[in-house]
Amino acid sequence: MNVHERAPNCEPAAELTLERKLSRMPVRSGTLGPEVIEVGKLYRDTGCFTYDPGFTSTANCTSRITYIDGDEGVLLYRGYPIDQLAERSTFLEVCYLLLNGELPTTGQLDEFRGTINRHNMLHEQVTRFFTGFRRDAHPMAVMVGTVGALSAFYHDSTDINDPAQRAMASNRMIAKMPTIAAMAYKYSIGHPFIYPRNDLDFAANFMQMCFAIPCEPYKIDPILTRALDRIFILHADHEQNASTSTVRLAGSSGANPFACIASGIACLWGPAHGGANEAALNMLMEIGSVDRIPEYIKKAKDKSSGFRLMGFGHRVYKNYDPRAKVMQKTCHEVLNALGIKHDPVLEVAMELERIALQDEYFIDKKLYPNIDFYSGITLRALGFPMSMFTVLFAIARTVGWVAQWNEMIEDPEQRIGRPRQLYLGPAERNFVPMDQRS
Ligand code: SDX
Repeated sequence: MNVHERAPNCEPAAELTLERKLSRMPVRSGTLGPEVIEVGKLYRDTGCFTYDPGFTSTANCTSRITYIDGDEGVLLYRGYPIDQLAERSTFLEVCYLLLNGELPTTGQLDEFRGTINRHNMLHEQVTRFFTGFRRDAHPMAVMVGTVGALSAFYHDSTDINDPAQRAMASNRMIAKMPTIAAMAYKYSIGHPFIYPRNDLDFAANFMQMCFAIPCEPYKIDPILTRALDRIFILHADHEQNASTSTVRLAGSSGANPFACIASGIACLWGPAHGGANEAALNMLMEIGSVDRIPEYIKKAKDKSSGFRLMGFGHRVYKNYDPRAKVMQKTCHEVLNALGIKHDPVLEVAMELERIALQDEYFIDKKLYPNIDFYSGITLRALGFPMSMFTVLFAIARTVGWVAQWNEMIEDPEQRIGRPRQLYLGPAERNFVPMDQRS
């Protein structure tokens, strides 16, 4: 393959010659990050597909929402660095930014907050869904089922070709996810559902729906609710990660928005993705004490063990995940606010990080803590059970999913996603009657 030198006034292109078949592929540049080689005509020109399991070198869309520089540990939401947003913004402000491309004015934010508040309740019949689940059902199973079922209730926001209906569905999803999540938690502990309160901000409202009980007032702790709001900001979007790509692929078929978000929740549940926060805390608790860390480091370096340090490593970040730094700081803030002077799990986490970051295996493979490494310790301190950790991730990521879903539908280049394959199965053969089979 030759990539043409930058001839003046000539569109940059890459040429690939395969058995005398030439394919000339345009090279496109973005605002930031790697250029792309458009391979869409490769099959027509050469009869060959590209092959890239896991899409390690494949861009499947253009996007203006989030940018990650994995080598530098940079994450930008619409150009704004994640650490600035985490410190100086609020989750609803970030929702507006991700959906609309610009930070809101005071008036725009007030209007958006009013819209979200008007949609945070659920159709009362949705509450009956919960009685169909066992009390010990994993809340992510409840989320997948209930969110998917919303398309049976909100028919006035399922026409994906109507921008107004897309906006309504997007706002409904952002507003209702915390309510459904809190109901899943309350159902699991046999408590009555607590309705949303529109006098509270997004995070405080979620915490009161989870932890308030009807027989006494719920005391809001602003330090804790601010920490949770910041955690939502950190999890809001992250380019074309597995669950966002799932939402885009489901959306490319024209599926309704609630079904698409349900598919994203299902994908996020995996321990290699959003389920890693629950898996990471389980791992830290299994390690139990700093003197057992070397044993687990050894296992993580042994491929045959099948064990990985959960909360470590990332497909894109080959440097420290900038969100993990903010999460670690938030973890300390929450523990201090709660008067927890000594958390043995945090002690294990910090020592594990210290040892791993000095170990050549992790250095060579550029494995650093990711957002999930400290989030579990923080969420547990806030009072959430481990089974709710990925649910909280889904609450936050809903705005990223709907922003990317809208962008995909509005993108004239987008069409139904339909990857090809390298076929390794049997060549054509004739049917064998039962009495001739061995
Ligand atoms: C999230 O994509 C996103 O943006 C996701 C996310 C988001 O906000 O949406 O950031 C959220 O999902 C964070 C990641 C959470 N998952 C985990 O913490 C699970 C543990 N991490 C790994 O399973 C892994 O690091 C992944 C899944 C995160 C990344 O997998 P890749 O990019 O496919 O990397 P890989 O599996 O090819 O690993 C590269 C090498 C391998 O060794 P070699 O085959 O090259 O010899 O690094 C090793 C792996 O064995 N490795 C690890 C490791 N992660 C990778 N070894 C030990 N412990 C680990 N955690």
